[in-house]
Amino acid sequence: MWYRCLRMNLHQAPASLTCHLTTILRGRLCFKDLWAYFAKLGGLGDCSSGMSGTCSKASAVLVLETVQKEMGRDDYEFIDIGAGSGVMVALSLCYGASSAVGIELKNEGQESVYLKSRELFIRNGIVDPRMLVSYGVDVSSTSTLPSNLYCEQGCERKRAVYSFCDGFAEVDRSHMFSLIGRDRQVKLFICSLGKGRGDKFSTPQAVERSINNAAASTQNEPFIACAKLVVRMFGSGAQKTVHVLRRL
Ligand SMILES: C[S@@+](CC[C@H](N)C(=O)[O-])C[C@H]1O[C@@H](n2cnc3c(N)ncnc32)[C@H](O)[C@@H]1O
Repeated sequence: MWYRCLRMNLHQAPASLTCHLTTILRGRLCFKDLWAYFAKLGGLGDCSSGMSGTCSKASAVLVLETVQKEMGRDDYEFIDIGAGSGVMVALSLCYGASSAVGIELKNEGQESVYLKSRELFIRNGIVDPRMLVSYGVDVSSTSTLPSNLYCEQGCERKRAVYSFCDGFAEVDRSHMFSLIGRDRQVKLFICSLGKGRGDKFSTPQAVERSINNAAASTQNEPFIACAKLVVRMFGSGAQKTVHVLRRL
């Protein structure tokens, strides 16, 4: 019975069934297949390979499980700023996201990997392709956070933003934090910190301050730091920390 359900558009399914299906897909078929597919196509980034930097398989699970836990059973959209080949965007659909969206500055093969992963979704009928990644987009040139076209106008879906942004220019991170603070639908932000003492955003407090200035200017609730996750990078195995901030 569940197998048949996998082949239907989840948005035609009643809410209880959608929830059940999410449980079935969570961490199993969807994640395993997608991870293998991205790996085969070279879409998992090792910082040294020029394809950006992706967490290891276990760390990607840790990040996505944290997002799912923090967002509870709510309908949410996953956003990756600096999405690379879109691996986290795709995988978030296996961890409770109803839609997923990303932007990526570079396009040096990343987009073709993303398009192929989308084909895999469609071919297997696992879920409706509720993901969208736009390439050649600089976050600092945007006036709002990206949103998946799947989300109809006026859609009030809660949003979780992920960004492995330590390689971003300070001005780009500052702009991103402002977009996050001003978007009242964003409930969760997971990010890496800038490197070194000279970096304006090298502490979670500095990131929190920047986001909360923007939140205050729009009378939105502030964020508080609620956890930090130690992750390993795909390929090099380098250890990094990502910080989790939750809107009060
Ligand atoms: C560490 S990688 C993370 C890739 C992806 N999230 C993943 O997990 O595989 C960071 C990405 O951010 C992109 N990036 C850097 N500055 C950016 C900007 N201003 N706007 C959009 N993307 C940017 C880089 O090109 C890079 O692909």
